[in-house]
Amino acid sequence: MNACVRAAVRTAIARDVEVIGVMQGYKGMIEGGENFMPLNSRSVGNIIQRGGTILKSSRSKAFMTIEGRKTAHENLMEHGIEGIICIGGNGTFTGAEKFYNEFGIPSIGAPGTIDNDLFGTDLTIGFDTAINTAVEAIDKIRDTADSHGRVFFVEVMGRDTGFIALAATIAGGAESVMLPEVKEDHHKLIDFFRTRSQNKKSFSIVVVAEGNFEGGAFAISNMLNKEIPGFESRVVILGHIQRGGSPTAYDRVLASKLGYGAVNALLDGEKNKMVGLMNNKIVLTPFIDAITQIKPLNADLLKLVDILNN
Ligand code: F6P
Repeated sequence: MNACVRAAVRTAIARDVEVIGVMQGYKGMIEGGENFMPLNSRSVGNIIQRGGTILKSSRSKAFMTIEGRKTAHENLMEHGIEGIICIGGNGTFTGAEKFYNEFGIPSIGAPGTIDNDLFGTDLTIGFDTAINTAVEAIDKIRDTADSHGRVFFVEVMGRDTGFIALAATIAGGAESVMLPEVKEDHHKLIDFFRTRSQNKKSFSIVVVAEGNFEGGAFAISNMLNKEIPGFESRVVILGHIQRGGSPTAYDRVLASKLGYGAVNALLDGEKNKMVGLMNNKIVLTPFIDAITQIKPLNADLLKLVDILNN
C-alpha cells in the first residue's frame, strides 16, 4: 500500500494538486485533528520497501452511520478536500460510494487486499507478496515433510475465496488444495490419502484456505486422523505473516501503476470507480460492480493442480 500512497502523492504533485493524507482511513476522517497531514514528495520518501501503510488502517463502525459521515464531511471541508483516493476492498468502496451520494465528494479506489478477490482487476495490491510468503513457508515445511515422510496441512488466508491457496499450491508444488469455492473436496481428499502410497508418495502437503472448512486446517487434520487408520498429519497456520513484510517487486510496480492511475482518473473527473489492472492495462470499474460481482477462480489453474500432483 505504501507504493500506492507514494505514487498517488507524487502523481498529484506532478499535476499541481495539493495532497492531504488522512491517517487511519475513515476513523481518522471522523476524528479529524492530527489525522489530517499535508503530504509532499519527501513525506512519501523511503517507504516503497515497507509493508503495511504509513497512513495506518482501521475498520470504522462510526463511518457506517450518517452522523459519522457528516462529521467526516465537515472535516474534509475544513481542509478544502475535494476528492478522495482510497485503498481497500468492499467496506472501503461501499463507504466511499455512500459518502458521494450523501455529500458529493468523489472517490477513486485502489484494490488493496491480499485475498485478490475483487472484481475488476486481475490482481490486488498485496496478493503477490502474500503468495510469495506462503510459498517460502511451504518450501521450508517441505524439508520436514520429506525427511520425516509426513503429511502437512498448511492453512493460508482466504475467508471467502481461494486465490491465495490456489496460487500457493501451484507455486509451492503442493499435492492438493482445499478452497472455499469447492466444498466437496473433503471426500476426494480421503480417497487421495487412501491411495497415495500406491503412487509412491512418501509425503504430502495440502494447502487449505481458511474458509474451506469450519475449524480450518486443524479440523480437517483431526477428521482425517480419525477416519483413516494410522494416518497422522501436522498443521501449520500461516496467519498474519501473509499480510506483512517488504512487498515484492511485482507488488510495488502494480501499486505504483494503480496509485498513478487512480489520481489521473480522479483529476480527469471520474468518480465512484475502482482502478484495476486487467490484461496489463489500467481500467476503471464502478464500485458497485467491484463490490457485488464475483471474481471467479481460474478454472485452468484448478485443473492444473490435479495434473501436477501425480
Ligand atoms: O483481508 C482479508 C483477510 O486477509 C482474510 O483472508 C482474513 O480472514 C482476514 O483478512 C483476517 O482479518 P483480521 O486481521 O481482521 O483477522
